[in-house]
Amino acid sequence: MNTATKPDAKAVNQGVAPVTYGTGDRPPRGDYASARSDFTCNQCWERYTAEDHDLYRRLYERQWAQLPGLACDEFIEAVRHLGDPRRIPRFDELSEPLRKTTGWQIAAVPGLIPEEAFFALLAQRKFPVTGWLRRPEEFDYVVEPDVFHDLFGHVPLLFNPMFADYMQAYGAGGLKASRLQACEYLARLYWYTVEFGLIDTPAGLRAYGAGILSSAAELRYSVTSPEPQRLGFDLTRIMRTRYKIDSFQASYFVIETFQQLIAATAPDFAPYYEQVANASELAADERLATDRVF
Ligand code: PHE
Ligand code: FE
Repeated sequence: MNTATKPDAKAVNQGVAPVTYGTGDRPPRGDYASARSDFTCNQCWERYTAEDHDLYRRLYERQWAQLPGLACDEFIEAVRHLGDPRRIPRFDELSEPLRKTTGWQIAAVPGLIPEEAFFALLAQRKFPVTGWLRRPEEFDYVVEPDVFHDLFGHVPLLFNPMFADYMQAYGAGGLKASRLQACEYLARLYWYTVEFGLIDTPAGLRAYGAGILSSAAELRYSVTSPEPQRLGFDLTRIMRTRYKIDSFQASYFVIETFQQLIAATAPDFAPYYEQVANASELAADERLATDRVF
């Protein structure tokens, strides 16, 4: 999921609420009528056409080709778990090795889901993956996360034990943040780590965030362009920082190691939320004197 922590749920009958995307009124793509009350549904793999599988293959191959030198080793090592690149994986088949390796499972969802439902699934080690695939004319850019973003971007690192634990902790933390009215702060953490995170390695900066790893153009941009700023990971600084949903990021945050990320996010966030609520918000491109600049 890309932005599952952003949409607002609008209550309707049957317990299944549609989701609005970002700040607009546009209804989200996907068949929400088929969803269960936890927002999961069946993948309906048989409904993918030969053209869908071919488009997935082309997306996969383009992205795979640019991973060396731009993606972190942990990601490159794990992509093979996705299996045959020539067809969209069956979620239940892919869940088998995933369950054995880190205890995670893939749960099909119609598309973006409300944040509470999203957190609840993550807390149970279930990763929601959108069923639909973008149209051919969206080869370079799709506004909402589709099956390619969700699978290629997110699923490989769920095979990594450390990252797998982080994602579950995030889900549990999300349920708590909902009670503390702090979802916006936690969403920023998700955005700047899980979606757009960079890691500093002996070989140079590399991407580990799904939003960049699944993006045709932003992957190279995030790692090599002189335009954006790259700042050292700082938990409460990130919680104060707004982000862009319709353009490349103005700032990326860099972790040293996954251990650093786990250690920094292990403490109880409640005091941080209070601290952040009392501090000013920061624009996406803001620079502070205390920032560590890469
Ligand atoms: N430690 C956080 C809390 O107490 C939970 C969390 C862990 C959130 C990891 C995000 C990532 O709320
Ligand atoms: Fe995502």
